[in-house]
Amino acid sequence: MKKQKSLKFKESVGIDLGSHSVKVVHLKRLNEGFKLLNYEIRPTVAHGVEYIPGDLRPERYGPVLVDIFKTLRINPKRVQHLVTSVGGDNTSIKQIKTIFLPDEELESALFFEAKKHIAISGSDMVLDYQVLSVEEKTNNMNILLGATSKELINEHTNILQTAGLAPNLVDIDSLAVANSFMLNAYVEEGVYVLLNLGAHRTNMVIWGPEARFFSRDIPFGGYNFTRDIMRKRSMEWEQAENYKLEFGLLDDPNNPEVRTLSMLDITEKPTEEAIVEEIRRSLRFYVKEAGNSDFRKVYLMGGTAKLKGLTEFIAEKVNLPTEVFLPFINVEMPEKFIDKKDPQLALAVGLAMRAE
Ligand SMILES: Nc1ncnc2c1ncn2[C@@H]1O[C@H](COP(=O)(O)OP(=O)(O)OP(=O)(O)O)[C@@H](O)[C@H]1O
Ligand SMILES: [Mg+2]
Repeated sequence: MKKQKSLKFKESVGIDLGSHSVKVVHLKRLNEGFKLLNYEIRPTVAHGVEYIPGDLRPERYGPVLVDIFKTLRINPKRVQHLVTSVGGDNTSIKQIKTIFLPDEELESALFFEAKKHIAISGSDMVLDYQVLSVEEKTNNMNILLGATSKELINEHTNILQTAGLAPNLVDIDSLAVANSFMLNAYVEEGVYVLLNLGAHRTNMVIWGPEARFFSRDIPFGGYNFTRDIMRKRSMEWEQAENYKLEFGLLDDPNNPEVRTLSMLDITEKPTEEAIVEEIRRSLRFYVKEAGNSDFRKVYLMGGTAKLKGLTEFIAEKVNLPTEVFLPFINVEMPEKFIDKKDPQLALAVGLAMRAE
């Protein structure tokens, strides 16, 4: 969450510890930009085993991380610069405006201010901030406040420690989403909707280089799409998961949809519609709060961004150009990776590109 400073490291590692998959990206710093050295995406739940969000134990990460670092031939002790992130209920990011304050007064004033805006109890709060701009006319400061709880940070560092890793920087998911976008897209104007579609949640960020920052998490992701398929097509978890990976929202051409008209079909909305509704609601809120409706594009990232048919569905329903975000504009790709640009890596790439 710190401002971009001069980069001292030569190589860096970004780790995105998702509830479903661990994503690790290893970058080499070039004079300008970065080069991808290697990456790994590894599910923490075996294929075919039902992923139950409330039922996942933190112990499962250790062995997965150890294994990934072995595969990537990285010695955890030798990592120069390691950046990770945390997300979920006990994290929050808010853009606020305050009167101009000198550095030495800013921190305590912001802590006080944060308590008003952020629902984490004061004694447990870990606060970070970034001054976005100082308005010339009013001298007011626009500040991005990020907060997490000590408990969450401890749990996260404990997980990494079991694999012999110690992070140099722990970011907040939604800020890492914005950073990845900022570092890997050519945008100057307008407002963008960024969706990091994971397994059990989606980080939504509405932001533009000159626009107000807004973020919230939506409680839907790949898990919900698999459940929809199970319900709609009367399938077991594994079969539904395979169907999802192959056809996504589309019908299997060899086996056209057989709809079972159960009660659930009528009362429960399909996940794609629930997501679209949340986007629309947030856009309305954004227009009201920020007085800005210059929306240009929706970018999808995360594993569920690969769901077939989703980009088109969102484009049509939200009525904005929508595309999958490939976070590699400023990352040189060696030949062997050239066809493997993967939106599931967006967060990890952004993290590895962070300064100290
Ligand atoms: N090709 C694909 N098509 C559709 N869904 C996919 C595809 N590949 C992966 N997924 C889904 O993406 C999800 C995992 O994505 P990701 O790694 O971004 O989630 P996560 O970070 O582990 O989860 P969360 O952020 O919710 O904790 C899973 O639900 C998986 O089924
Ligand atoms: Mg995730």
